[in-house]
Amino acid sequence: MSRVLVFAGSARQASLNKQLAQLGAAALTAAGAEARFIDLGDYPMPIYHGDLEAADGVPPKAIELGRLIHEYDALLIASPENNASVSSLLKNTIDWLSRIREFTPLEGKTAALIAASPGAFGGVRGLYHLRAILNTLGVEVLAQQFLLPRAHQAFGADGEFIDPKQAEQLAKLVQRLVQALG
Ligand SMILES: Cc1cc2nc3c(=O)[nH]c(=O)nc-3n(C[C@H](O)[C@H](O)[C@H](O)COP(=O)(O)O)c2cc1C
Repeated sequence: MSRVLVFAGSARQASLNKQLAQLGAAALTAAGAEARFIDLGDYPMPIYHGDLEAADGVPPKAIELGRLIHEYDALLIASPENNASVSSLLKNTIDWLSRIREFTPLEGKTAALIAASPGAFGGVRGLYHLRAILNTLGVEVLAQQFLLPRAHQAFGADGEFIDPKQAEQLAKLVQRLVQALG
């Protein structure tokens, strides 16, 4: 069974991307994968600083997250768009993960990208950057992605998509991810 780790690039309590990530995890389970949602808020780490790294090494929470990622075949990442790019939280987390020397948590993984934004474009510009960052670290990113524009109006009180077409599109993407994992 394919194992997919799911997280969002926001730790905000009412994060739209966490909500989307959780729907993604449920869709993965329905597609026959083993999916685990984690909250990056549970992996606090300082802003990357070379002097800090030289003095103390990679923070324990980054190593813990790196070990967890290493155990999984693939990632489903819900990425907020901040100023047309990825969130500071997601970039900082990836930067620290890339400094682990004992093993390379991200290299060789497969990832699918999703994004939720209250704006009209659904976070597409952030995913463009995230794709490039992950490719640099040896992650194979699926060409297909899922965007949720006007995300603040997209979920019902039950936490599900109001528009069933969006549920279908997300299901299709995660099915592709599962297929890609063989
Ligand atoms: C500093 C900052 C910059 C932002 N820039 C963008 C942007 O470029 N495009 C966009 O669609 N939304 C932008 N937003 C709005 C976020 O998409 C919105 O706050 C979203 O809900 C954040 O994700 P979350 O709900 O998962 O925390 C920005 C928000 C912040 C705080």
